[in-house]
Amino acid sequence: MSDFAYVNARLHAEGVALEDLATEVGTPFYCYSTAAMESRCEAFARAFDGLPATVCYSVKANSNLAVLREMARHGAGADVVSGGELARALKAGMAPDKIVFSGVGKTAGEIDAALEAGIAQINVESESELVMVGERARAHGVDAAVALRVNPDVDADTHEKISTGKVEDKFGIDLPHAADLYARTAAMEGVTPVGLAVHIGSQLTRLDPFREAFSRIAALVHDLRESGLEVRRLDLGGGLGIVYDGETPPHIADYAALVREVIAPLGCELLFEPGRWLVGNAGVLVTRVIRIKEGLSRRFVVVDAGMNDLLRPALYDARHRILPLNETAPDAEESPADVVGPVCESGDSFAVARPLPPLAEGDLVAICSAGAYGAVMASTYNSRALVPEVMVRGKVHAVVRPRQDIDALLGLESVPGWQEADTD
Ligand code: LLP
Repeated sequence: MSDFAYVNARLHAEGVALEDLATEVGTPFYCYSTAAMESRCEAFARAFDGLPATVCYSVKANSNLAVLREMARHGAGADVVSGGELARALKAGMAPDKIVFSGVGKTAGEIDAALEAGIAQINVESESELVMVGERARAHGVDAAVALRVNPDVDADTHEKISTGKVEDKFGIDLPHAADLYARTAAMEGVTPVGLAVHIGSQLTRLDPFREAFSRIAALVHDLRESGLEVRRLDLGGGLGIVYDGETPPHIADYAALVREVIAPLGCELLFEPGRWLVGNAGVLVTRVIRIKEGLSRRFVVVDAGMNDLLRPALYDARHRILPLNETAPDAEESPADVVGPVCESGDSFAVARPLPPLAEGDLVAICSAGAYGAVMASTYNSRALVPEVMVRGKVHAVVRPRQDIDALLGLESVPGWQEADTD
């Protein structure tokens, strides 16, 4: 998190003090560092230098248009999983021929939108989807490039809710069925099989599962080629883990070395769908301490951000570092506290028995590594407005999404006519 650092004891995003942003936009808010995204994009590109590799940034990680534009500036395309994400990627200026569409439940309307945009490929996850893509493509008079997403039945050794490559997971075509379906795709009108895709999970902290999955894909490529089928593109998905608080994920160079060893000899074009790795450590969620509550067994630090703003701790027991915006003296004693939000659920918690420096009501803290799967997973639960997102670049900043207006939120709803009549 080197782009978030203390300068004169105040936590900064690059050249901007987060406290100044809090004064301007109020709390809670998300803040993203352009420099942090930039260095990740460059590091990813460097690691795969010399290989025919394209980054299709996984839009679901952070789909703010400013973030997408930043990715596009670095030459990235997009991995999208809905018509909405496709619209965003196109609006942000991503080249259609660098967009791939994944997901188990694409609707006919979404497939139509992808075909109309002329995206690079549709990652097909079932036979039934393949049939639908073929039908829609024929109706449009086009030929759809498809990759078959394979489920290699590999344990990604990550949280069960973000594991996607085991047979019990809903994703992908089971490996034993893939070769047959690929051959049938090749014979089908309206679709052309361009290759295979694989993604076994997110926040992987070991290389072995990648090695296992990639090896199985490589073996499948050999089989397909032996039966005379062409495989020219491999989409290796995302999943590379980041450091939240003490994890030791693989280094990008080691991940790239694995790809060079296992996949590169196949001579395919390569696509990657990193999300978290590019943006996770490029964002923080800034929140204010509303209340200190000394319970019988716990000290609760109640902040103004809730699980509706950042769901990861509640949903995946995720551990995010929490830093005070004003640096604490090195000799300040830490004591354990539960950092909780205002939402009416016991799961609305950001940290349990976490050793924290002294915090008082009114203090500001940053919940770190919130750039991926933060703002995108927010909801308005408890009728809490969506919080602003601010992007920093050097000494300048821009509000890239304002705080949602609660009246505008309520304005979306209406009562049916018969209820209005009741009150007359
Ligand atoms: N490609 C596919 C097909 C995916 O399903 C995903 C993530 C990615 C790429 C990007 O994976 P990444 O590089 O970001 O690990 N909300 C969860 C993470 C869900 C990931 C879903 N799929 C979290 O907050 O941990």
